[in-house]
Amino acid sequence: MKGAVFTGCLFSTGLWLLVEDGWPKICDRKPCVQEMEPGTYFWCSCGHSASQPFCDGSHKGMGPVKEEISEKSTVAWCLK
Ligand code: FES
Repeated sequence: MKGAVFTGCLFSTGLWLLVEDGWPKICDRKPCVQEMEPGTYFWCSCGHSASQPFCDGSHKGMGPVKEEISEKSTVAWCLK
């Protein structure tokens, strides 16, 4: 689908097993769909941010995932 970006959960890759702080907090089982302007965003991978789906710096162990969006797009952000 042109113009759509999907930030996938890394859960199925087993990467969470390598994370020092354990499992991410599940904020919602549905994605957060937003119209995004081009720019750099930091997706929260730990689920502890109060500013879901973006990192607010409250993580411990896990860190944010940098996402570059090059054109205005509809993005479905995973909420873990
Ligand atoms: S608060 Fe979750 S990655 Fe930063």
